[in-house]
Amino acid sequence: MRYLFRLYPALRDRVSWTPLGHFPTPVRRLAVLGQRLGWEQLWVKEEDQTGERCGGNKVRPLEFLLPAVHQRGYRRVLVIAPWGSHYALAVAAYAPILGLEVTALLGPCPLTPHVQRNLLQLQVFGARVVHLPTWAFLPAALLREFLGSPANLSASLPALLPPGGTSPLGCLGYVEAALELAAQVAAGELPEPEVIVVALGTGGTMAGLEVGCRLAGLKARILGVDVVGRWFARPERISNLCRRTVHLLHSLGAEVAEEGFPVREVWIEHGFLGTGYGHSTPEVEAALKLAAETEGLYLEPTYTGKALAALLHGGVRFTRQRRAVLFWNTAHRNFG
Ligand SMILES: Cc1ncc(COP(=O)(O)O)c(C=O)c1O
Repeated sequence: MRYLFRLYPALRDRVSWTPLGHFPTPVRRLAVLGQRLGWEQLWVKEEDQTGERCGGNKVRPLEFLLPAVHQRGYRRVLVIAPWGSHYALAVAAYAPILGLEVTALLGPCPLTPHVQRNLLQLQVFGARVVHLPTWAFLPAALLREFLGSPANLSASLPALLPPGGTSPLGCLGYVEAALELAAQVAAGELPEPEVIVVALGTGGTMAGLEVGCRLAGLKARILGVDVVGRWFARPERISNLCRRTVHLLHSLGAEVAEEGFPVREVWIEHGFLGTGYGHSTPEVEAALKLAAETEGLYLEPTYTGKALAALLHGGVRFTRQRRAVLFWNTAHRNFG
């Protein structure tokens, strides 16, 4: 039973939901890394441990998104993502649990060793992968999927999942995560964080956490670390997503006041993107090494490495000594 349904029992009959992951995910103090930085209260929320099949930050939204399409009668889902996408990987890992077939339309991004591993893993999970030589091929590929092609004429019409799992329904997964965090704070497992640092891609994780923290009465500010670019990591897109998530909760019967919901000013750090999505930087490489050496935290360069680099370099700017900073580790499990 998830915290969301305990807090808002009305949702139980109105939201399709299937348990896919293992929760709560642990929190732990990063004592060695913290000592190096001179911060006593540096913590991590280990969202890499959300599930055995894959883990990472996309398991929670999929607990809502996959049953919703299954209930509407679909038997096949379509996901559009860059080559190394953890989202596509999570869909490929978890959709078969609901009997859903997966087609992944994948477009180019820098082909790092991590991305290559994810691509291999996708095939291991049995997803049908369509490689797009450039993103310009996407409309034609979509047409083929929806209208049929000699290769898949017999295939049923697919449901198109939202990019990155980010939609108000997907965000409920991260509202749940914040409620879970609040319970861990209340149980004394960690101090109430002053700041939560998270990678910002399509924004569902950040927006869900923002809404969930406000509902749970946590004062933490969420710092989203841009890993895509300013054109996409826009504060108004995140606040709009927060508003739509609150609206969804309200319309499903949760006792949430839409009017005046206290969404705070959206806080985004753009300074650690480097030359673009999927490109590493010297700060990121240093952060990856430091995290592995000090804490056995195995991050990747596209998302979590940039989030940690921002935390390490910008930390003194945003935290007062002794207050807790929580690194939200969204990395999926390392398949080696
Ligand atoms: C490992 C990892 N961290 C963070 C993110 C960003 O999450 P969101 O798309 O919800 O902003 C992603 C997105 O794919 C991811 O794969």
